[in-house]
Amino acid sequence: MRRFAFILAMCFAATACGAEVSFQRDVWPVFKRHCAGCHSGQKNKGRLQLDDVASLLKGGKTGPLFVAGKPDDSLLITQVSGDKPDMPENEAPLSPAKVKLLRDWIAQGAKIDGAPISQVPPVVIPATYATAPAISSAAISPDGKVAAIACRSEVVMFNVDDDAPPRRLRTDFDLITHVEFSPDGKRLAAGGGSPQQFGGVIFFDPVNGTRQGGRRLGADTFFKGNFSPDGQSMAFGGANGAIYIIPVNEKEQPKTIEIHSDWVTAVAYSADGRQLVSGSRDKTTKISSVQGLRLLRSIDQSADVINAVAADPLTAFSGGNAATLTGYDFKLSVGDVETTGSGNSTQPVSKRDQYVRNFEVQAGAVMALGISGDRKLLAVATRTAEVRIYQTDTRTRKTAIPMAPAPVLAVGLNRDGSRLIAGGKTGEIQIWDTTSVKLIKSLTPVPVQQAAIAGK
Ligand code: HEC
Repeated sequence: MRRFAFILAMCFAATACGAEVSFQRDVWPVFKRHCAGCHSGQKNKGRLQLDDVASLLKGGKTGPLFVAGKPDDSLLITQVSGDKPDMPENEAPLSPAKVKLLRDWIAQGAKIDGAPISQVPPVVIPATYATAPAISSAAISPDGKVAAIACRSEVVMFNVDDDAPPRRLRTDFDLITHVEFSPDGKRLAAGGGSPQQFGGVIFFDPVNGTRQGGRRLGADTFFKGNFSPDGQSMAFGGANGAIYIIPVNEKEQPKTIEIHSDWVTAVAYSADGRQLVSGSRDKTTKISSVQGLRLLRSIDQSADVINAVAADPLTAFSGGNAATLTGYDFKLSVGDVETTGSGNSTQPVSKRDQYVRNFEVQAGAVMALGISGDRKLLAVATRTAEVRIYQTDTRTRKTAIPMAPAPVLAVGLNRDGSRLIAGGKTGEIQIWDTTSVKLIKSLTPVPVQQAAIAGK
């Protein structure tokens, strides 16, 4: 009873001096965003579960989470503040505003005015952006007529050959990291998710932009992915080191191959659809078997993070922050492993000289690769303002597209490689004719405040 009276008194004081903090409305979203990955659902690190009222009141293995009215004496506050806050573990500290919110909540009595709502607040897509959002992924339809780009929570589609206004397809994902047309051009896929919440993919009809389906899985955003050559599945890189294979048919179960020790930043199918090449923040490039759902071989270890992978019928390609683009002969790099079938664990990198197929040195960190549908041309985006296009069989440079908006973060080619789409940090998209090396179109695909554009 006394405690109850005390809490009431505190609330009263707080209401008198300012905004009252609501657990459900204000505090829970902070926990959900920054802590839920380790302290909710099946996870209760430190025996603390923040999505459960009983656990909130009981605290973790050390004891109560808070002393109502006394933020300075509260474990929650000591854990998230100081020079090097303990929580969230291994991640950027909470902003001062968020720490203050938690403090105010405790100062006001740490009332739990409603159970934690697992539903996240709806993703907000501005009608007009203050500044142009970076392009995280770009794709061009096999026939070269329709372009699709990803920026933040939306996918934008537009026609290459006319000036019809772009079509904005909103999603309920925080971040779209990958857009791609299916090999037959009948589907547009958008992959991504919300950090520490879910990964997923949404399929759109590229003709009218309607949503055909999609699904959410895993507990974190997906990175770059790839349609299987038959268009029946998509593979995505996961933040947990796994490759996710997601059948387009929602009745079929997704599968995972857990092979990397850090984010899988990119995945690509081999031309026959039987193997997957993957690159990771763990700096390795690996090849795995789609049928066997297992690693065939760790084919290389780079000096830095791998950002992009691709494949032609004979060769796997990978590039990253070390400013290298490397090819690997599929057969030679995994051949013996596949025939003996003994490769269920990491194979030591060997025979590297025999299976490596070098490219010329790249001008900067390789950020993205775009392969034509016929797998004959490979476009390479780097942090510089140039996109080079290589012939995949000889690995010689066919052309270099100048003045793409640097740094380029996204590239795509159509089926025969005659058209290139490129976009990056500046939010501008360019479409080039790769034969004549002429700019066909350049635009900022979403509305941006005029002042912001003028001020650039
Ligand atoms: C990446 C995982 C991870 C994230 C994210 C994370 N924690 Fe933790 N947390 C842990 C682990 C692990 C422990 C146990 C540490 C120990 O016992 O040494 C812990 C312990 C705690 C404890 C102490 C529990 C006790 O009784 O000992 C508190 C309080 C806490 N976390 C709060 C938070 C808050 C608040 C956030 C979000 C702002 C957060 N954590 C985010 C992993 C995480």
